[in-house]
Amino acid sequence: MCGIVGVLGKHEVAPMLVEALKRLEYRGYDSAGIATVQNGKLDRRRAVGKLVNLQDLLVHEPLAGKAGIGHTRWATHGAPTERNAHPHRAGKVSVVHNGIIENFRELREELARAGLAPETDTDTETVAMLVSHYLGSGLNPVEAASKALGRLEGAFALAFLFDGEEDLIVAARKGSPLAIGHGSGEMFVGSDAIALAPMTDRITYLEEGDWAVVTRAGAEIFDETGTPVEREIKQVRLDQTQVDKAGYKHFMAKEIAQQPTVLAEALGAYLKGDEIELPAPGLNFAEVDRLVLVACGTAYYACLTAKYWFEKLARIPVEVDIASEFRYREPPVTKGTVALFVSQSGETADTLAALRYCAGRADRIVSVVNVETSTIARESDLALPIHAGVEVGVASTKAFTCQLNVLLLLAIKAAEARGRMASAEKSELLAQLRALPGLFNAALDRDATIASAARQIAEARDVLFLGRGMMYPLALEGALKLKEISYIHAEAYASGELKHGPIALIDKSVPVIVMAPRDGLFDKTVSNMQEVMARGGKVCLISDARGIEEAGDGIWQSITLPEVDERLAPLLYALPAQLLAYHAAIAKGTDVDQPRNLAKSVTVE
Ligand code: F6R
Repeated sequence: MCGIVGVLGKHEVAPMLVEALKRLEYRGYDSAGIATVQNGKLDRRRAVGKLVNLQDLLVHEPLAGKAGIGHTRWATHGAPTERNAHPHRAGKVSVVHNGIIENFRELREELARAGLAPETDTDTETVAMLVSHYLGSGLNPVEAASKALGRLEGAFALAFLFDGEEDLIVAARKGSPLAIGHGSGEMFVGSDAIALAPMTDRITYLEEGDWAVVTRAGAEIFDETGTPVEREIKQVRLDQTQVDKAGYKHFMAKEIAQQPTVLAEALGAYLKGDEIELPAPGLNFAEVDRLVLVACGTAYYACLTAKYWFEKLARIPVEVDIASEFRYREPPVTKGTVALFVSQSGETADTLAALRYCAGRADRIVSVVNVETSTIARESDLALPIHAGVEVGVASTKAFTCQLNVLLLLAIKAAEARGRMASAEKSELLAQLRALPGLFNAALDRDATIASAARQIAEARDVLFLGRGMMYPLALEGALKLKEISYIHAEAYASGELKHGPIALIDKSVPVIVMAPRDGLFDKTVSNMQEVMARGGKVCLISDARGIEEAGDGIWQSITLPEVDERLAPLLYALPAQLLAYHAAIAKGTDVDQPRNLAKSVTVE
């Protein structure tokens, strides 16, 4: 999604803005731009495509000034062209925006009646026009911005820069996150602390409806009603803002390889001996009638996996839903229900809306998040961090396994509280879990085999993934990973569903990736695999040595993983799915870390 930065600096800000925008690249974007004020004059540069294009432009047409705003745009209204790129300008104001202004058409009509016509296809330009209109009516910049903010509907984070004002940025948040950074004699605005990390680690997170008048002397913050409010300045942990590739070719490769370490650390954060220490005041699983799990994308597949754990281990009925469906379905959420939201970014608009729907209806709102300062974390009764560290690759990898880790620990805790798991069984399972990072390392050693299978898979136009039981959500995740970064069409089915339709797709051109550890359901999956091979289908089997041996002849490719307790298999089997997608993308030459059309943090509907 769009990224915002703003700097009121002591030095030239153009290079600082571009550096900060680079740190926001991971969010996904298709154009970028900056605006500065120099000698009282607003000016801007914008370019389509990667930031390097903006940098090239700035070499030929430099932009001077010690006050500026910048933006990476992920197009919503209007194609990704230079004209539609931010900062937008109308008269004496320039603006950058993340989100969607839902009433921009009405505002445009109103402005048209005042004789003002837009020059772009964007909703954002309307905001600049509105502020400019108010400036024209005699309001000062702060009054004009504040009056305009009161007229906007939708979700936004905004930063305004004004002609003639070299010590002023007005910033606002409603729906989309925005942070203010405090320097010494300098002030900053950014979509997240990661953008501001080289400049400051002292951050104030604006709350819903807040807006701020930022000058080099500090920030005055107001709530939605215009009342001045105090917001805490937090010291941000630098390890939460590190975004280097550490020698890897891609962030995704680094994040896949980091999994043994981050999983061990995440376990260390929650396990004290055989005790699972979850800071869960007021969450008594013995009294929970029903769990509702809601998320989007990969986080949704983590929830689907967790359903198996909560139901099998703790015998709690679980419903899992996609946030964008859940939020508009008005599902009954009754007492006795705990609503649990899973989100890496903690800012996903649909997940947040689903959470807000459940607040006041469910007994407790629990979230499983990576970004601990995020809106979803802040609006939950209980936020459980997954401790994955910053995830930069757009395709979620280590966050998925760390989400699974916390969800499994919760399920074990629930099983214990409901008298469904004896302490010996729990100790044994936790011992297996502690051994898991070692199994991840062993699985990472299969990289060359996986890369070779991936190169062949990369030649296909369509790929099917099959899995049964807990491997079904993993198959869905494998298909999502493959399609999002290699652009190969991939679908996943529960193995047993194959003959109810998808089997019609099978022929020798469609690789079928079967995820099947040698567990209680293995024989059933082998039968489905035979059905595929009998029709000329090419099977790539991901299993353990026993599974590969028992599956017999006729398999096209096999990937052998270490044996793992079947309850923990979803964590381990995520790894080959991620590596297959990664190597297929490399074979196809796609942009692994920033796949087309995708954004890391989806702050619009
Ligand atoms: C896929 C992926 C997305 C996210 C989804 C939810 O690799 O990363 O499907 O999982 O957009 O994002 P969060 O977890 O930030 O709510």
